[in-house]
Amino acid sequence: MKKKLVVFSGAGMSAESGIGTFRDAGGLWEQYNIEDVATPEAWKKNPDLVTDFYNQRRKQVIEAVPNSAHLLIASLEKYFVVHVVTQNIDDLHERAGSSSVLHLHGNIRLAKSSGPNQEDRYYPIEGWELTANDKCPDGFPLRPHVVWFGEQVPALNDAAKIIQEADILVVVGTSLQVYPAAGLVHLAPGNCKCYVIDPNSDEFEVPSNFIKIKANASEGMRELIQRITD
Ligand code: APR
Repeated sequence: MKKKLVVFSGAGMSAESGIGTFRDAGGLWEQYNIEDVATPEAWKKNPDLVTDFYNQRRKQVIEAVPNSAHLLIASLEKYFVVHVVTQNIDDLHERAGSSSVLHLHGNIRLAKSSGPNQEDRYYPIEGWELTANDKCPDGFPLRPHVVWFGEQVPALNDAAKIIQEADILVVVGTSLQVYPAAGLVHLAPGNCKCYVIDPNSDEFEVPSNFIKIKANASEGMRELIQRITD
């Protein structure tokens, strides 16, 4: 019976693919105000600005390629039942070959209706651009399928169940600043082997049982695989 390995990833996972993080020096939230581009109020106030912000990020995602950390995680499916729970809205885990990826904060390649009562209906975006003319079948403008600040995280319970059944939990590339997502690291069962991979892991607050690997995602994943296969 294969053990369950869960990866909980954040923006640092995609840094080596050239996609900037949010809170590192020069990160996205130094370039933009969250209130202007990543809240429901921002969408109501200036939908074109919000749509353009995500169009630019979608273009970058499409041009990016999975890095070796994404590929190593996908390769672990030979030895473990691997579930990826990601805060990232890029599709690099899927493009690397991971077969179980749960997006806590949405998926930039999908759109959803801005109208009421449209839960769980998503529309693939062809190419990088969503425009104001793109409407759902009910005639409401399409918006990026992204969980904005202040919105519910629909996949949270599913993510909690996955982490509660982990034999190995690998937290990689997240500053654990954003809740409720960050609270998931406390749900690993008592007998779970927990690791955190991050170049700044010595500045981290994680439960005391986490083993810290101070490295970037690719190097850290190589070291982790060494440790768990020894
Ligand atoms: N490899 C691994 N980790 C890295 C790398 C790298 N090459 N480069 C940076 N990091 C680490 C940083 O040290 C930091 O701890 O990645 C983390 C990035 O943290 P954030 O920028 O805060 O990104 P994240 O934790 O994913 O943000 C969570 O906040 O803005 C919201 O919804 C957005 O999902 C996002 C959430």
